[in-house]
Amino acid sequence: MSTSHLPQISAVVPKEGNGQRAGLSAALQALQSRDSKEFAAALDERKRREREWANFSRDKRLINAGGETEEKHRGNAKWYSTTQLSLEYRNAWLAEKVPGKVFLDYACGNGLETLKAASMGASVAMGIDVSNVSVANAAETASREGLADRCVFLEGDCEATGLPDNSVDVILCSYMLHHLNLEYAYPEMRRILKPGGCVLACEALDYNPLIKLYRKLTPEMRTEWEKEHILSLKDVRTAKRFFNVGRIRYWHVFSFLGGFLQGAPGLFRQDF
Ligand SMILES: C[S@@+](CC[C@H](N)C(=O)[O-])C[C@H]1O[C@@H](n2cnc3c(N)ncnc32)[C@H](O)[C@@H]1O
Repeated sequence: MSTSHLPQISAVVPKEGNGQRAGLSAALQALQSRDSKEFAAALDERKRREREWANFSRDKRLINAGGETEEKHRGNAKWYSTTQLSLEYRNAWLAEKVPGKVFLDYACGNGLETLKAASMGASVAMGIDVSNVSVANAAETASREGLADRCVFLEGDCEATGLPDNSVDVILCSYMLHHLNLEYAYPEMRRILKPGGCVLACEALDYNPLIKLYRKLTPEMRTEWEKEHILSLKDVRTAKRFFNVGRIRYWHVFSFLGGFLQGAPGLFRQDF
């Protein structure tokens, strides 16, 4: 993949400054100049499937008759409009934590949360994803929205980011931990997080019987790995081995029912 559409890292993370900053800048340079084909070839089978799946569902060249990518056409978008409350919580959390900080959108997809962090004043907003199509989409949006000078998008593996130890202040996990092997992802996040850094994980849990049924009825919408790894409280307990886990908030036990009522005018906002 050509990286000519990406901003120079030195413009985003100045080389001057303390050693930590220079270390991050050098690591980002190296990661961004990595060859996409070589990166893909070195992935194991599970990660290659995740990459292919995300590439297929977000490839704008594969727009269907309705003018939408697979993700937009078949994905879970109708449920997202019913998650306004948790979204507001997330936005408030980011607005408090992000300004002036090094922010990482862990498995960023099309990079919407990275862009949000950049516009909230992150000193650098980084997004990493195994899907080169997603990363290219994200970089394109950053350029279009005038945020490219504060964003860095990397095609990479969240389980082995290549970022330096203690280099990130804030990590956001948005609907993605079930795509990873947490035995690798948790220690990796812990390694790159600065002392005093923090993580917000907004993730689906495996308990709501109706959502479980919906998942069973729509297997084509998920990778094989994610079907088996929707988060449970066991994964939260495992997180406690690596992090000081704060309060867990549970959302949307019933509000997802709104997804079935999408046709009813004026009931739910669909502004994503
Ligand atoms: C459901 S999407 C979530 C994307 C984004 N965080 C959001 O909220 O829209 C899951 C993402 O995980 C990515 N992914 C899967 N395995 C990964 C890995 N090992 N390293 C980096 N990204 C990965 C996929 O490419 C996909 O973009």
